[in-house]
Amino acid sequence: MRLPPRKDSLKWGSYPEDVLPLWVADMDFPVAEPIRRAIGERAEGFLGYPPREGDRELKALLLERGGLEGEVALLPGVVVGLYAAVAAFTAPGQGVLTQVPIYPPFLSAIREQKRTLLANPLLETEAGYRLDLGGLERLAYASRLLLFCHPQNPTGRVFAEEELSALAQIARRHDLIVVSDELHAPLTYERPHVPLARFLPERTLTLLGPGKAYNLAGLPMGAAIGPKPLVEALRRHLPPTFPNVLAMAAWKAALLEGEGWLREILGKLRQNRDRVAAWAREMGLFHFPPEGTYLAWLKTPIPQAASHLLKEARVALNPGENFGEGYDRYVRLNFATYPEVLEEALRRLTQALRKA
Ligand SMILES: Cc1ncc(COP(=O)(O)O)c(C=O)c1O
Repeated sequence: MRLPPRKDSLKWGSYPEDVLPLWVADMDFPVAEPIRRAIGERAEGFLGYPPREGDRELKALLLERGGLEGEVALLPGVVVGLYAAVAAFTAPGQGVLTQVPIYPPFLSAIREQKRTLLANPLLETEAGYRLDLGGLERLAYASRLLLFCHPQNPTGRVFAEEELSALAQIARRHDLIVVSDELHAPLTYERPHVPLARFLPERTLTLLGPGKAYNLAGLPMGAAIGPKPLVEALRRHLPPTFPNVLAMAAWKAALLEGEGWLREILGKLRQNRDRVAAWAREMGLFHFPPEGTYLAWLKTPIPQAASHLLKEARVALNPGENFGEGYDRYVRLNFATYPEVLEEALRRLTQALRKA
């Protein structure tokens, strides 16, 4: 099944008609049939308040499927969890660590709440992006909180067990709490995602959600999982809302019956990932194919690259400068679309880059 792009969506409705939107992290593919069915069935019934703590069965499934332990708090979205974590575990003026480049709400959660960003840039090695553990150790004395992203948005890095284990040692030595945003965990290719909590259970709050892997960002929901004192501290900073009954039904159906759909989608995404990587090589762009996510992080020779490419190629990409200081030559390209759309975007980008 293929649906026409929705003009009332953020992705397809924010730019003029002639622009191909390969930016915000939605997939162009329709939601899995079992999820649509579960939403429909739930919508036919009672839509009043659910229990405040949410669906117990869903919470048990999240622990079981995620290989996680501890308390589960449902969230009205993953970004809400990031903001609440900054408020819960730090005070205004204090430092918050994160690896850059990073999904922009990590930066706004820190800045808007008047904390200080302690940026730990990922290393660009010949083998790909790596954690700068030495740099992290040097900054860690000045902070109580690390906002970690794994798989990493925008680089698509899925961190290796050795890196996670080394990170855990640093966190213990410096008494850090780590909030690990693992929203993209089901979207990995060659190597499966291993939760950070496996190495650091006593200090990790894992954030999960159905939004990216099952394309449900318009039904926002998330979860924070970890030791009870950390989850309770977070809860005190969450808005007093009830969990959304349709989002809970959708997430449960995704976990119970969404596997086949996800496997099929990952096959398509992997082909697109490889296509983008081959194209970047041809164009001489600095790029490491993502190990997870459907996002490609590309370095161009052009300053303010995204606005130049929007104007010259009529392709909308996420500007690198939104992901941290000094990344304005980078763009983030969302390849979760149909091959014809991707090909047309690459054709336009090729022309614009050759002219630049
Ligand atoms: C790493 C990461 N965290 C959080 C979000 C957004 O989550 P939500 O829409 O549930 O707030 C995204 C969306 O792309 C993301 O990539």
